[in-house]
Amino acid sequence: MSHHRLAVQNVHFAYPGGEQVLSGLSFEIGHGDSVGVVGANGAGKTTLLKHLNGILLPNQGHVTVGDVRVTEGSLAHVRQTVGTVFQDPDDQLFMPSVFEDVAFGPLNFGMDAQDCASRVQSCLEQVGAWHLKDRAPHQLSGGEKRRVAIAAVLSMSPGILLLDEPSTGLDPKGRRQIIDLLKGFSHSKVIVSHDLELVRDLCPRTIVLCEGKVAADGKTDALLMDAALMDRAGLEVPASLRPCLSCGKTNALQPAGHDPQAMLR
Ligand SMILES: Nc1ncnc2c1ncn2[C@@H]1O[C@H](COP(=O)(O)OP(=O)(O)OP(=O)(O)O)[C@@H](O)[C@H]1O
Ligand SMILES: [Mg+2]
Repeated sequence: MSHHRLAVQNVHFAYPGGEQVLSGLSFEIGHGDSVGVVGANGAGKTTLLKHLNGILLPNQGHVTVGDVRVTEGSLAHVRQTVGTVFQDPDDQLFMPSVFEDVAFGPLNFGMDAQDCASRVQSCLEQVGAWHLKDRAPHQLSGGEKRRVAIAAVLSMSPGILLLDEPSTGLDPKGRRQIIDLLKGFSHSKVIVSHDLELVRDLCPRTIVLCEGKVAADGKTDALLMDAALMDRAGLEVPASLRPCLSCGKTNALQPAGHDPQAMLR
């Protein structure tokens, strides 16, 4: 299914009048891959995601979605394939009610009203937000907005899903609900997150961005437990991959029944 592939080739980008933000990024994401993108504040993660859906176009290099190069002329096709949950849900929610916000995409793509209504209900139920359907999006809490923004993107059945900090503002149960929901999304996904435990849960592969360059691209646990790499990237080894102070093993490698609290003593 080549249409769910993404290719980033030697992408350079600077905002007008600003410094270089992306400096020659290259990687490919295959059909069904789930890839984490991590890095310090300002590393260029959001800027990169905005290139994957054509919100920004590179100064040099190119992005390809399936077999289609992302250009101004291909934006309609790209937006139909790539669904993006933005870092700030306020950038995404603009209709008078939650229901209308989630219905907006499918109606725009020509779905009939009755099918759309059941799609909206199903997506809002999946994120635990059906009870919010008549509320005004701008009056919701941060976590409620995040759930609705995720539903609004899922309602369009994207072939590639981009998520920028999907767990920010979610309570622990809501975070788990979103993780389980994303586990069930079988197409390609790219997840930008400072929540490294979420990245471990959802992404077998991770790209570490550092000052607009790919500092590492490989198996998630191998990269996230590399203390020197994490330090260079402005990150920390997540707690679940730190060695236990009493036995020296990491939580991830410990047998069932091991006392993880030993790490904290
Ligand atoms: N619209 C803009 N105009 C000018 N500079 C920008 C703009 N958006 C971001 N930048 C700059 O580009 C750089 C990368 O920003 P970006 O938002 O991609 O970082 P990030 O890795 O997503 O950070 P965070 O973890 O804080 O979300 C930063 O130095 C930022 O100040
Ligand atoms: Mg960002």
